[in-house]
Amino acid sequence: MSGDGDLRFPDGFRWGVATSAFQCEGAAGKPSSTWARWEALGHVRAGNRSGVACNWWLDAESDFDRARDLGLNQLRLSVDWARVEPVIGRFDDDALGRYREMVVALRDRGIEPMATLHHFDQPVWLEDMGGFENPAAVELFVRFTERVLEAVGDVCRDWITFNEPNVYSTVGYVIGDFPPGRHGDTRAALRVQRNMARAHARAYALIHAVIPRAFVSWTQHLISFVPDRPGHRGDEWAAKLSDRMFNRPFLEVVADGRSAGPPGLRIDVPEAKDTCDFVAVNLYGRRRVRFSVREWRAAFNRFAPPAPDAPRGDPGAEEKFGEPYPQGIRALGAWLGRLGKPLVITENGYADALDRVRPGVIAEAVRSMHSLLERGFDVRGYHHWTLADNFEWDAGWDLRFGLYELDIATQERTPRRSAQLYGEIARANGLDRETLVRHGVEAPS
Ligand code: BGC
Repeated sequence: MSGDGDLRFPDGFRWGVATSAFQCEGAAGKPSSTWARWEALGHVRAGNRSGVACNWWLDAESDFDRARDLGLNQLRLSVDWARVEPVIGRFDDDALGRYREMVVALRDRGIEPMATLHHFDQPVWLEDMGGFENPAAVELFVRFTERVLEAVGDVCRDWITFNEPNVYSTVGYVIGDFPPGRHGDTRAALRVQRNMARAHARAYALIHAVIPRAFVSWTQHLISFVPDRPGHRGDEWAAKLSDRMFNRPFLEVVADGRSAGPPGLRIDVPEAKDTCDFVAVNLYGRRRVRFSVREWRAAFNRFAPPAPDAPRGDPGAEEKFGEPYPQGIRALGAWLGRLGKPLVITENGYADALDRVRPGVIAEAVRSMHSLLERGFDVRGYHHWTLADNFEWDAGWDLRFGLYELDIATQERTPRRSAQLYGEIARANGLDRETLVRHGVEAPS
């Protein structure tokens, strides 16, 4: 690759895919977890059930083969706490053994594992004690982390403690679509984030004590909020407030030991200061914000639909994610400058069964990361969400994020055109114009 405008990446750049345990392993045959219970109670769209999902509990290895064949060199997966500790204080060595098998299987394929300790799902016994609203969750998380480290600490260097504390707390305690299904309880969402920050800080220290070269972070979901009516003071104010309340607090806690804001409405966890080795960002969409007094509990924010000419994925995707906006990666420079750490995009993608917008999303993400590299930022890797369609939380099987299409009845996978494109990018460690033209993707800006 050498032409003008071709995008080369530094040697050793990580091209990966991100996944999570519940979404790929499903609820079938597993000890009760909050999501297994939530779907059994009928809270998932159209009553969908996860079943065995992508069948990873029995066979993740075939998908690991696919990742290797695409030329990927990293895969992010999570450890399911409910499988590992089905009853408080009782650890299941077979479950830990299965996770070790998975991590080793990745390494055998030349794929570096990145393990997430908490990706939304958790044991029901924890939820029934108040989950992360209860300060006791901190010690319990630390004990769980210790056991996971004993099982895989020698074969895994890259770690994520918590996946998206901002999504977990907002969707579970303010919007109500995730368990425990609370509405408008902003204070509870703050308590949850506070305890997660404490648990993160403890787990960060513990992982480093066991694995001196560990590379550890949490993942931060970032949404680009823009006023629906540019120049409208209410919309502009509400967009800023959403950014402040959703995007910033956890990042600020890790940067400064506390978030901005008045006492009572901020997160003060001094021991969390500087507890990350990289900034891990999950980024999907841009949302248009309209000021609405009736939405006072949700930062006065009533989401407006994307512009009519915005790219569209699966029906309903825009309601949840706004429009696809990988360009948001460029604006991360400011955050990066602030923390002075390397950046890894730990999730990016879009729900798009027909694969009409995904190739453009991938190409633009590559372009955006490259522009950050050109500006001197230390971008280390990119994980596409996700390898094969998996169980999309409260949207069940309705939203399809996979590079591979999954037939849930037969477990057959069919590569979408994006799989080809992403594989070529990973193998070339970059992207050239000819590849874009061959895949019929518009040259990114
Ligand atoms: C979550 C994933 C989820 C993806 C798409 C992220 O917020 O970490 O578990 O599937 O978004 O909704």
